[in-house]
Amino acid sequence: MTDPSRIDLPRRRLITAVGAGMALSILSPFARSSGVGQPFALGVASGDPLPDGFVIWTRLVPENQPLSKPVAVRWSVASDAAMTRIVRSGQVQADARLAHSVHVEVTGLQAARPYWYRFEALGEQSAIGRAITAPVQMAAALNMGFVSCSHWERGYFSAYRHLAAENPDLVFFLGDYIYENSYPASSGKVVRAHAIPEARDLDGYRNRYTQYKRDPDLQALHAAAPCVVTWDDHEVQNDYANRWSQDAGVDPAAFLKRRAAAYQAFYEHMPLRRSSLPHGPDMRVYRRLEWGPLARIHVLDGRQYRTEQPCVLPDGRHGGHVATCAALSDPQRTMLGWEQEKWLHDGLRQSRAGWNIVAQDLLMAPLDQQDPHTHEWGHWTDGWDGYEATRDRVLANVQQSGARNPVFFGGDIHSFWTTDLKVGAEVVATEFVGTSVTSDGPPYEAFKAVLPRNPHVRFFDSRQRGYVSVSVDARRMETRFQALSDCRDPAATVSTLKRFVVEDGRPGAQEG
Ligand SMILES: [Fe+2]
Repeated sequence: MTDPSRIDLPRRRLITAVGAGMALSILSPFARSSGVGQPFALGVASGDPLPDGFVIWTRLVPENQPLSKPVAVRWSVASDAAMTRIVRSGQVQADARLAHSVHVEVTGLQAARPYWYRFEALGEQSAIGRAITAPVQMAAALNMGFVSCSHWERGYFSAYRHLAAENPDLVFFLGDYIYENSYPASSGKVVRAHAIPEARDLDGYRNRYTQYKRDPDLQALHAAAPCVVTWDDHEVQNDYANRWSQDAGVDPAAFLKRRAAAYQAFYEHMPLRRSSLPHGPDMRVYRRLEWGPLARIHVLDGRQYRTEQPCVLPDGRHGGHVATCAALSDPQRTMLGWEQEKWLHDGLRQSRAGWNIVAQDLLMAPLDQQDPHTHEWGHWTDGWDGYEATRDRVLANVQQSGARNPVFFGGDIHSFWTTDLKVGAEVVATEFVGTSVTSDGPPYEAFKAVLPRNPHVRFFDSRQRGYVSVSVDARRMETRFQALSDCRDPAATVSTLKRFVVEDGRPGAQEG
C-alpha cells in the first residue's frame, strides 16, 4: 500500500497549466464540501513557540480523491477555545511537492497565553488545536512532557493520551516518532501491523507518517499542546550515522538519498519552521527556544553530523557492544559535528536563563555494561559511549559556561534513567531519560546487575512504557516518571513510578 497522496509532479504540472477556470476553483474552496471526504484525517499540530507566535501544521489527505493539484488552505487563530474571537487568519497553498502539508508561522500574537487554531480546505474544517506563546517576562512555571520511541506495531499510544490530559505547555518528541522497520507476523510481537514492511523511500516514509498520524492518541497530544521535535535513528534507519547505513557495504551516496527522503517526510509531518526545510539530504533540526528568563531550551541533532560509530564489529557493522578500542576516545571524532558543538557551547555560555534544558535523543551518562552473550564488560557505541570525547567536551563546557541549572532530557534506550552527569568527581548537570511509548525495553535484570559499576546512575527501570512529566519554576524542577499499565491495551491507565526534584543551584536529582 502506498501513500494515497503520493507525489506526482508531471501530473501536477499538467493540472496547474489547465487555466483560469481551474485557478478559480482552487481559490474558493471554502463555501461547501467538495465531496472528496475529510481531508484532515491526520489531525493538526503546533510547535516551536515564540513570544509572538508558533508554527501550526496540517496535511491534506482526502479519503476519496488523491490530491495532485495545489489546494488553498485557510487558517485561523482565535483567543478562545470556541474560535469565536479570531485574532489572526490567512490562506496558504498546499501542494504536492511537500505532500500537501501546511506549515504556517503565525506571528503578531501576545506573549504567554493560550490560543486555538483551525484549518479549512476543500469545504471541510479541521479539528481545533491549542497552542501557547512563549513568555517574555518571568513565567510562574513551565509544564512539559517528553516522549520517545513509539513503534506502532508494539502497542497503542496511550502514553500520548495521558500526557495530553495533563495539558502541558510544551511536549518534546525526542526521537523514534516512527519506526522504519517492521516485525514479521511470526515474531508474535505485532499488536497492530504496519501498512508496509519497511520504509526506504519517500513513498515509504510518507506511508509511515500517514499511518502514525491517524492514531487518535497522537492526534490528541498534538492538538493539546505545542511540541518541540527532534529525531533519533528510526526516522531514517536503525543505528545510522550521518551518511552511513547500519548495514555494511551500503554506498554512502545511496544512503544519502534514503536520508533525504526520510528527512523530507519528517519535515512534511512536523510543525517545523522554514529554517528546517530540507535541502537534499541536509536538514537543520538543532535549534533553541526561550521561555522568558525561566528556561532556555537547546534542541540537539545527534544523528546527522556524527562520525561513524567506532570499533568495527566482527560482522563488519558499526554500532554495538565493544570492549574497547582506541577510537572510542579519539578527540577527532564527533557526535554533534563541530558546528553544532560550537553552537551548543556558545548557547550555554551566553545563557542567562534560570534553567538550561538540553533536549536530545540519547542517554548521555556513561554506562559500563556487559555484553548480554559473552558477559564481557564494555560500551554501547551507538550512544554517547561511542563518542566519549564529545561528551567530555560538552560536559566540560557545561561546567565552565556558568549556564544555570543544566538538565539533559533523553530517550532511545526504552527505559527510565536518572543520572548525575559529572566532570571528574563533580556533578555538573542532571539527566532524565524517558522510557519508550511502546518499544521493547532492555532486559531489566541484566541492566540492574551492572548498576554497581555505575554509581552515577541514580535510578533505572526498563519494565514500563510511558512518558515523563516535568514542571519547573524558579526554585525547582519536579520530574515524574509516568508508567502505563500495559501499552498493548488501548485503554491503558497510568501511574507515577518515581518522582525527582532538582533544586535551583544544585545539580543532581533528589528523590521527592
Ligand atoms: Fe527507539
